Amino acid sequence: MSNDSIFKTFLVAFLLCVVCSVLVCLAAIVRIDKEAYNKQLEIRKTVLAAGGYQQLIDDGGNIDELFTANVELKLVDLATGEYTTAVDVATYDQKEAASKPESSVKIPADLDLASIGSRAKYAAIYVDKKGATILPIRGAGMWGPMYGYIAIAADGTTVNGFTFYQHAETPGLGAEVDNPNWKKQWTGKQVFKSSGALALKVVKKGKYKADAADAVNTVDGIAGSTVTGDKVHGIIRYWFGEHGFAPFLAKLKAERG
Ligand SMILES: Cc1cc2nc3c(=O)[nH]c(=O)nc-3n(C[C@H](O)[C@H](O)[C@H](O)COP(=O)(O)O)c2cc1C
Repeated sequence: MSNDSIFKTFLVAFLLCVVCSVLVCLAAIVRIDKEAYNKQLEIRKTVLAAGGYQQLIDDGGNIDELFTANVELKLVDLATGEYTTAVDVATYDQKEAASKPESSVKIPADLDLASIGSRAKYAAIYVDKKGATILPIRGAGMWGPMYGYIAIAADGTTVNGFTFYQHAETPGLGAEVDNPNWKKQWTGKQVFKSSGALALKVVKKGKYKADAADAVNTVDGIAGSTVTGDKVHGIIRYWFGEHGFAPFLAKLKAERG
């Protein structure tokens, strides 16, 4: 067949299109995979940071290796405070579960201190090899939803670390929740009193007194950002209340004596 034939011209053009389409598809797949991996890496980094592994990350530790070696993903039925295998934890998406009526529960208005309306029935938590639990928390901030993790030591009450990984607060104001100096003060705080009563709170900047009897339960707010401080307070009070992780942490404490 002659190189000038119309058939051959169309054939070459067609083959060129096929090759280009395959290349574009491959590039898109690689990009989606990379985005998914980066998202997973960010969550792992946040979980490790909240769990008290920040120094190991700063020292150049590999996030995936640290994560695999130290923490395990588990599901908690928040109503009973028990671990559950009712759904596959590996594929469980708590955000998605919270948005569907069949996998979520409505929060009574008087308990909805985080202003979220409903929550997933099951919480995907991380348990580290020292028995600490790294718990997902969320709630309304001043400008949008805030998502984070708070790590509780094996005693079920001591805070190991605290961090948000997503929020829309204002840089220099509410976004100071990301300031390492502000986050640092959470470490060592006690969520509950020895009676079991919920005690952890965020107060207006300057109201914290280091020598007060409740200093161990109190986090100082952020200057000029009382609204965000109050929102974080509400998030904490909801997630450590009876409708949140309190039944789970009470069981953990009882089991560990
Ligand atoms: C544009 C703009 C953005 C603001 N962003 C925040 C914020 O992200 N978080 C916050 O608590 N307050 C923010 N504020 C300030 C609040 O409106 C409010 O004045 C403040 O929270 C009160 O805190 P204070 O009592 O510590 O001064 C913002 C104000 C303005 C005008």
